[in-house]
Amino acid sequence: MTFPHAHLLGIEPLSQGDITAILDLAEAYVILNRSDAKHADALAGLTQINMFFENSTRTQASFELAGKRLGADVMNMAMQASSIKKGETLIDTAMTLNAMHPDLLVVRHPQSGAVDLLAQKVRCAVLNAGDGRHEHPTQALLDALTIRRTKGRLHRLSIAICGDIAHSRVARSNIILLGKMENRVRLIGPPTLMPSGIAEFGVEVFDDMRAGLEGVDVVMMLRLQRERMDGGFIPSEREYYHRFGLDAEKLAYAREDAIVMHPGPMNRGIEIDGEIADDINRSVIQDQVEMGVAVRMAAMDLLAQGLRARRAA
Ligand code: NCD
Repeated sequence: MTFPHAHLLGIEPLSQGDITAILDLAEAYVILNRSDAKHADALAGLTQINMFFENSTRTQASFELAGKRLGADVMNMAMQASSIKKGETLIDTAMTLNAMHPDLLVVRHPQSGAVDLLAQKVRCAVLNAGDGRHEHPTQALLDALTIRRTKGRLHRLSIAICGDIAHSRVARSNIILLGKMENRVRLIGPPTLMPSGIAEFGVEVFDDMRAGLEGVDVVMMLRLQRERMDGGFIPSEREYYHRFGLDAEKLAYAREDAIVMHPGPMNRGIEIDGEIADDINRSVIQDQVEMGVAVRMAAMDLLAQGLRARRAA
């Protein structure tokens, strides 16, 4: 199968077939990553540059490991200390990058749309590692792979996404992906953290955890994105935990075999009870991290195949 996209900027442009192709290839990389010889050569000879204009632990480490395991030369640009701080525009940065001939560029940026803009200016495949509150496609894909492996399918499931939906690119990419794969998505959170016009996405909206969690197969928790809030979106953290934090009592409303997910970083005692997060019978949070490496390997492999084919043409 040839992947028909030059970049991975969001879930929005992907078809069901594109999503399945990434997940199927990722399965092979899960096996590779569990073996002693973790090397493949899909990216051999290629240069991957990671540019993170926002802090990241999991995502950056995971993209770096993914590139290295596939044989790319991987460079992390320290954007905190870069010329951006000296006033260089994103476009100038793109021009500088072009001169270095990267093949894959992984970008995280605090502004929605910044990664798309950069993709129009550089001559390589761009992967969005999170742009503002817009999209975080590899997170939705790794969540999808985790769900597909634990539930045995990725369709006709009932999935609750809970908490700070308004500021979350993870929620947005997941809503789009899960909808495309024909699942039922419920959003649960206080009205102040619910984006306006969300009903257009074909989701059900709840402001009560117990009602929203009733009978769901998957419970996806989100971090309160304080860095994107400018004012009082919640009364207090204590009150928030009381109403929207996932604890055993609220989780009991979901299906008995419901799984608990969180993209990290977690705030224990604010959106999730630490014991639930650590409960290996319910929580798949560590599996999500593992799937993250495999999904990023698959996405970069498919984009690199397209890049090579276009360059050869
Ligand atoms: C998420 C992000 O950065 O959007 N984290 C991640 O990629 N693992 C979610 C978050 O920051 O809360």
